[in-house]
Amino acid sequence: MRLSRPLAALFISSSIPAAYAWGAAGHEIIATIAQMYLHPSIVPTICDILDYSPDDATTTQPQPCHLAPISTWADKFRFKMRWSSALHYVGPLDDHPSQTCLFPGERGWAGSRGGNVLDGIKNVTSLLEDWTRGEANDGTANEALKFLIHFMGDLHMPLHLTGRDRGGNSDKVLWSGRQTNLHSLWDGLLIAKAIRTVPRNYSRPLPYPDVEHALRGTIYDSYIRRIMWEGVFQKWSDQVPEWFSCPEATPASAGEIGIWQQVVMNWKRLSGGKQGVEIGPDTDVVCPYHWAKPIHALNCDVVWPKELDEPPYGGGIKFADEDDGEEDAAGRPPKPHPPLLELDTPKYAGVIEDTMVVEKLLAQSGIRLAGILNYLFLKDAARS
Ligand SMILES: *[C@@H]1O[C@H](CO)[C@@H](O)[C@H](O)[C@H]1NC(C)=O
Ligand SMILES: *[C@@H]1O[C@H](CO)[C@@H](O)[C@H](O)[C@H]1NC(C)=O
Repeated sequence: MRLSRPLAALFISSSIPAAYAWGAAGHEIIATIAQMYLHPSIVPTICDILDYSPDDATTTQPQPCHLAPISTWADKFRFKMRWSSALHYVGPLDDHPSQTCLFPGERGWAGSRGGNVLDGIKNVTSLLEDWTRGEANDGTANEALKFLIHFMGDLHMPLHLTGRDRGGNSDKVLWSGRQTNLHSLWDGLLIAKAIRTVPRNYSRPLPYPDVEHALRGTIYDSYIRRIMWEGVFQKWSDQVPEWFSCPEATPASAGEIGIWQQVVMNWKRLSGGKQGVEIGPDTDVVCPYHWAKPIHALNCDVVWPKELDEPPYGGGIKFADEDDGEEDAAGRPPKPHPPLLELDTPKYAGVIEDTMVVEKLLAQSGIRLAGILNYLFLKDAARS
């Protein structure tokens, strides 16, 4: 078997502690699912806009052009574009899964105005709308489109929707005995296992030309076939039409919160807690807040293991800080390191696998991305 470029990328992305996004495989899978749903008449427009030159995307333009190779551009170039890093996630203040999930609570959102993934998606979508009206140049459209493809992926990664412990990056856990962190687990390791364990029957083409045409001969082709066959065409087929829809402009403001949460938040405010920023409203076509709300709730349901806040893994017991294995000045022996929680277990990973949570997020992300692109460029195709 040929070791494809995406395979190499998968391993690279799961071995570095990535602070950003689904790993390369996650973003490419999402983009590949989106590709299946693109209206054929908008593909040439997208090919024209996207710059695949090596400097820009470290890839050459595939024929026909495909969204997957540029889906990780925003991560690859984030060091050159530091201003953009806050646009990959959003942090509701006082949110603390698994005990308290607020999206947002009374104090609103952390960070600076406009600097979050919800506003980022609306921002780049509106830049692309400007382009369809001839009011933005091609360079702007190229970057906006690459950001949109990437941010729609990030929006569907639950740990990009909470600020706790840097989205789980600081939470050390075990995965099959190896140390990793909660964020990396969701970024790549769960997906890598799903790819490894996909049933063999998915190595055969499905009787769906749109699915097969979008696949590129990668190691995750079989996994995508499984997501489409078992998920999109069966398990979730009734829900898929709702995935696109947006309610009329939902404000991303304080939601319904319980009385105890109110008491705690009032106390925090009285004791000098800062008010957060506001996030702009959804539109009736692009509604990242509405889409993100149930994804954020997964943080309390399945993503954050409750044990992380209970002894012996967390809570109550005080352990030494990281790498503090030395005797202290008074000659006392080093304090023990906390044990790490294993998550490749039936109770954690097993539930995620059985309920196809990750697969559903990948599918929702891809289908919604295609919906936005069709909305943007079908209008354009109709006009010219
Ligand atoms: C998008 O973000 C850029 C950079 O932060 C800002 O200058 C611009 O006004 C924003 N555009 C919209 C439509 O929000
Ligand atoms: C592949 O096998 C699984 C059982 O392992 C079955 O549920 C599924 O429908 C099969 N897929 C196809 C495409 O035949």
